[in-house]
Amino acid sequence: MEKFIIKGPTPSVRGSLDCSGAKNSALPLMASSILFNGTVILRNIPFVNDVKKMSDLLISLGSRVELFEKKKIIKITNKKKHKLVVPFKLISTIRAGVLAMGPLLGKYNRCSTAMPGGCSLGDRGIGFHLEGFKKLNCKYKVRGGYINITAKNGIKGNTYKFPKVSVTGTSNLVMASVLGNGTFFIKNASREPEVLDVIKFLKNGGARIYFIGKRTIKIIGVKKLNGCSHEVIGDRIEAFSYLCAAVITKGKIKINKINPKNLYAELKILKKMGCDLSIKGSSIEINAKKKLKPVKIKTLPFPGFATDNSPPLIAALTKVKGKSEIQENIFSQRFQCVPELNKMGALISIKKNKAIIIGTDKLYGSECISSDLRTTFSIILGALAASGTSIINRIYHGFRGYYQLEKKLKKIGVKIKRVR
Ligand code: EPU
Repeated sequence: MEKFIIKGPTPSVRGSLDCSGAKNSALPLMASSILFNGTVILRNIPFVNDVKKMSDLLISLGSRVELFEKKKIIKITNKKKHKLVVPFKLISTIRAGVLAMGPLLGKYNRCSTAMPGGCSLGDRGIGFHLEGFKKLNCKYKVRGGYINITAKNGIKGNTYKFPKVSVTGTSNLVMASVLGNGTFFIKNASREPEVLDVIKFLKNGGARIYFIGKRTIKIIGVKKLNGCSHEVIGDRIEAFSYLCAAVITKGKIKINKINPKNLYAELKILKKMGCDLSIKGSSIEINAKKKLKPVKIKTLPFPGFATDNSPPLIAALTKVKGKSEIQENIFSQRFQCVPELNKMGALISIKKNKAIIIGTDKLYGSECISSDLRTTFSIILGALAASGTSIINRIYHGFRGYYQLEKKLKKIGVKIKRVR
């Protein structure tokens, strides 16, 4: 298995980076292609492993998928009727495969999907997705590890209120509704920039979708969606992860191709910590050379501070003098970076859903194991600031979602080696 080796402490990061397209936009956008007639073209695609797996999933369902990595483009054509089964072997490698349910139901009123099961972030059910589909006139049965869903008399307009904001749940319900009969209302919907990106794409193809309140979406069913092209938004989680590299190394870098509004809460926190930020158009420049202050944050659905951004921030705070607190409100096992950072000498304790970080002067290189995508980056950040050599195992988690991870780190001055 591949590992990263980082000899620290690395010098302060410097230079500039272009943000890749957002993985969490690309995945539902690709799934939503099932709904379209003809060809769709998606630009600014991050060719990360999850995207490649979503492409395999679409091919297994019968879509024609053409990948042009150099141009960052994916072309998807629906020539024939799709298969309606998402098999276990695909769902077990990409949880976001559940995003095929909405479009298959929307287009064919029927699908069978292997149950996604648990995940390293804790118990991640899809009960809201299923209850939502039920409201759209579907019935479902679980048999042999598969969820079989049918809308015998078609998808019909109704209202569904999410008990808790769900990102893929919202995308799934929107995708199931756009070709349905009547008017649909989705309440307590996600407003994550990635969900808005999917809505924009569907609207380009002819869907009628409107936000009629802060968290209420109205959809009027249409007969068909026409192939069109779309540019994926920049990845706000990737952008923030690299900003944290500047924080922990007291560096100065510029991140391009990112909408700063999509990092509203995160930039506010960086300012509060004392980082100098210069925001111009779609670029964010950070200078973290000053003495920084500890902070208290809570993760929340957008526009709050994103749960995916807490692991890099935890790492960045390990060297900020004083006591910081991060309260996690989305996932039960978000703090998997904590024992790994503590191996390096960080002083982090967990009390219920809070990580309490006491800043320390020194971290020491250690051998660590990554257990999820964002934890990988968090451990890398610790290793940048630690004295001595760090070995990071199971880095394949990182390649699920960070495009050209080593290349980008090297570009800002990090000395990192990938070994077997
Ligand atoms: N939830 C339920 N039942 C459901 C759906 C959600 O209980 O039917 C709960 C979850 O267990 C969680 C909360 O609701 O406690 C929110 O989960 P959500 O459904 O929003 O998560 P998701 O859609 O499965 C997406 C991202 C995650 C990101 C979360 C939160 C994609 C493909 N994944 O997951 O991204 O952490 O939203 O913002 O968009 C990552 O990129 O590293 C990642 C994990």
